[in-house]
Amino acid sequence: MTDAKQRAATAALAHVSEGTVVGVGTGSTVAHFIDALASCKIAGAVASSEQTAARLRARGIAVLDLNATGPLPLYVDGADACDPQRRLIKGGGAALTREKIVAAASERFVCIIDPGKRVARLGGVPLPVEVIPMARELVARTIARTTGGTPVWREGVVTDNGGWILDVHGLVIDEPAALEAALDQIAGVVSVGLFARRPADVVIVGDDPPWSW
Ligand code: A5P
Repeated sequence: MTDAKQRAATAALAHVSEGTVVGVGTGSTVAHFIDALASCKIAGAVASSEQTAARLRARGIAVLDLNATGPLPLYVDGADACDPQRRLIKGGGAALTREKIVAAASERFVCIIDPGKRVARLGGVPLPVEVIPMARELVARTIARTTGGTPVWREGVVTDNGGWILDVHGLVIDEPAALEAALDQIAGVVSVGLFARRPADVVIVGDDPPWSW
């Protein structure tokens, strides 16, 4: 698995241009990407989490404020599940909100995954939802009533934004973009780990050799 993640991460370097600012996601696949990125002459990176910022700095890469960079040409991130339309479930590492922000600010989103993340249909893995802490039970009740899924509080986890995570199990996701929009409307939801309205533009799978679509 580590080899597959590393292959996908290394292949993503082909999308990096010298002198640019790169948006960088979060997770074990991205950790390989950061290590490889250290050899590129980029202007700096925008991090999607404190964990990523720390690794970037440790590799000598300048971490920049998204408010100061303008639009980014490239965002590279992993995923927990990816369907044939490059729609994703993300947030296994609880970084979904900042990941969604950096993805939205980027012209091209390159997603790097190991082969186990490919799915015919989203819904096999729980869907993370970041919530304002005081709204946890309200959001959980609303999601259970409106979707039929079972929200489970990821107890003990606090996001970089001070939010909490509900993992919604047992969802049947027929229309990912519609579900994303509906969940985004619930009071107390900060963001939803469905990346369907803004899917990846390219997905690189770390098979040997790596391939993309
Ligand atoms: C972080 O919150 C997630 O969205 C990650 O991108 C996702 O969990 C993939 O992680 P791995 O690369 O560790 O599998």
